[in-house]
Amino acid sequence: MPRQAYVNGRYTAHNDAAVHIEDRGYQFADGVYEVVPVYNGILVDEEPHLDRLERSLRELQIDMPMSRAAMKLVSRELMQRNSLSRGFVYMQITRGVAPRDHKFPAQATPALVMTTRQMKPHSAEVLEKGVKVITLRDIRWERCDIKSVSLLPNILGKQAAAEAGAYEAWQLDDDGNITEGTSANAWIVTDSDTVVTRNANSAILNGITRIALLDLIRAEGFQLEERAFSLEEAQAAREAFVTSSSSFVMPVTQIDDNPVGNGHPGLLTMKLRERYVDYMNGLKEAG
Ligand code: PDD
Repeated sequence: MPRQAYVNGRYTAHNDAAVHIEDRGYQFADGVYEVVPVYNGILVDEEPHLDRLERSLRELQIDMPMSRAAMKLVSRELMQRNSLSRGFVYMQITRGVAPRDHKFPAQATPALVMTTRQMKPHSAEVLEKGVKVITLRDIRWERCDIKSVSLLPNILGKQAAAEAGAYEAWQLDDDGNITEGTSANAWIVTDSDTVVTRNANSAILNGITRIALLDLIRAEGFQLEERAFSLEEAQAAREAFVTSSSSFVMPVTQIDDNPVGNGHPGLLTMKLRERYVDYMNGLKEAG
């Protein structure tokens, strides 16, 4: 069966799937999304992802297009149709279709698109070497806690990273502190083995991987601080890494032109990655 997508109530061939030209997502980026990882055929942290989706929608006064239970059914149906065991389910909800006018339409039905994508395991080489990040100014808006499809600053940042041969771009706020990457949260490990990541407020997206890892770090009893950290502190850090639904825990070994620590993936970082993978391996299909 060719790859399938779900568009507003219908399963359809991915290549033929389409939305209306006056969908407000297309015209205004008036919508939100989620990326739920699938590992061993199981949706990872589905509930927290759906919690965050509902929160993003609430903040923008967009209704859920269907019940949470129905969203879960569609995820599973798509995974089955697409034989997905490793990758992710992408879900996008926009305010719907209406004649182009900035203010909310009086009546619009939220539009829902769901797709899946296979993902290869991270290569051993990448994990042995770690990845490079560049740094640039954070030019995003003041509601980065909403997982909006409006991602121009993020794609410009990621493109700049790609052109510099880097994996990610860490974004710097006006105080010279790192907020996060363009599609991942940023972490460092200090000289005294304290794990540091930016506190979750409207300056960052509160990553679901971030939240799960915070729990694992607390359970292990490692020292942890959720606070802002500067570029200088990151440059002096012993270890660094990023987290996201597609990167899991990915060691960062270079920031701009400077090696992080000894230039190799950090021991604590790799321990945390292992714990996170163990965590995913231990997940069971709900109900
Ligand atoms: N990105 N910060 C930003 C700006 C992100 O876009 C993401 C996720 C994260 C990490 O969140 P999570 O752990 O929930 O994946 C942090 C997704 C993967 C994306 O846009 O493809």
